[in-house]
Amino acid sequence: MKSENLDGMLDKKIIFVTGKGGVGKSTVSAGLAQHLAEQGDTVMTIDADPAHSLPDVFGVTEKVYGSKKGFMSNGKIGRVYGDTRLDLLLLNPIAQREKYTGSHRIMWLAELGKEMGFYSNLGRMSEFFTLADSLYKSFGRYDHFVVDNEPSAGTLDMVENIDGWIDGLDSVKKYKLIFNMVLTAGIKDKQLVQEAKDIMFGQNGAAVEEYKQMLRSIKKLFTSAEHFEPVIVASPEDAVIRETHRLRSELEGRLDIPNRYVIFNKVMEENPDVRKQQYKKMEQFEKETGTICKRIPYLSPDVVDLSCEQTARKSLRKIAGSIHI
Ligand SMILES: Nc1ncnc2c1ncn2[C@@H]1O[C@H](COP(=O)(O)OP(=O)(O)OP(=O)(O)O)[C@@H](O)[C@H]1O
Ligand SMILES: [Mg+2]
Repeated sequence: MKSENLDGMLDKKIIFVTGKGGVGKSTVSAGLAQHLAEQGDTVMTIDADPAHSLPDVFGVTEKVYGSKKGFMSNGKIGRVYGDTRLDLLLLNPIAQREKYTGSHRIMWLAELGKEMGFYSNLGRMSEFFTLADSLYKSFGRYDHFVVDNEPSAGTLDMVENIDGWIDGLDSVKKYKLIFNMVLTAGIKDKQLVQEAKDIMFGQNGAAVEEYKQMLRSIKKLFTSAEHFEPVIVASPEDAVIRETHRLRSELEGRLDIPNRYVIFNKVMEENPDVRKQQYKKMEQFEKETGTICKRIPYLSPDVVDLSCEQTARKSLRKIAGSIHI
């Protein structure tokens, strides 16, 4: 971890895609990412939804889960298409403490602290850690990060836990002796214990300080309107529009970042009556919120064909192309 990553981070943008369930977040995320990559930018897509649909949407499920099983385990980054710099990171939970490797060992600390009741607000730790660590380490290497979220503001919960993490790391320093004892008593593999202790307490806790710095910069990034662009995917239906209003205020309240872009997906262009009704709803939304709204038509299943890499790529081009980006 070098601080040059931090400096690089300040020039970059995270495109954070949220929206109600099933509206097309993953399709739109993949479309945006592929578009940027085909323009020559380097892009990392982050599949932050535990249901992981990006491999399907890119048409590379086989590549990810098939012949090379385990290729996309937590923290691993895979190349989506060979001819562009479009990479994919799946955030997966890590079930067993012993599976944390390298710098992930710092996770033990958080888990132990949580078990010992020093702090509690630390949901989805391993996924969050992977998100933060990957962003931090590879910030300088990508022009864009496109984050595909689970329905609604999912990943924000993880980001909100950042202060809890920092508190946790501070408590390690404060209760060093107790943490040391718990590590020794709680984990059988002595080599792992030693490694964890070295990471946590070596050189006067330098690694812990570095992690705190990393977490602070990630928080800064996620709460900076300059680098972070929340994009809400919606569709022109009342229930979805209601949820979009709610999401907008949630984003603003939790991150203090205004939402400027809403992409209305699955717009029924063909039926004139439905079209008229839907356009009225979208125009009203646009007027009420002052957002920039884009429209993607409802495409027939043979156009949205995600069955293999070639057809998925074509479909995603259609998706991105329809919003004239
Ligand atoms: N413009 C479109 N026209 C037709 N079908 C679409 C369009 N956009 C997305 N779809 C289809 O709608 C379904 C849901 O899309 P997608 O998985 O992208 O939604 P999501 O919001 O990511 O869902 P989830 O909330 O489950 O993550 C998929 O089958 C996708 O192929
Ligand atoms: Mg999805």
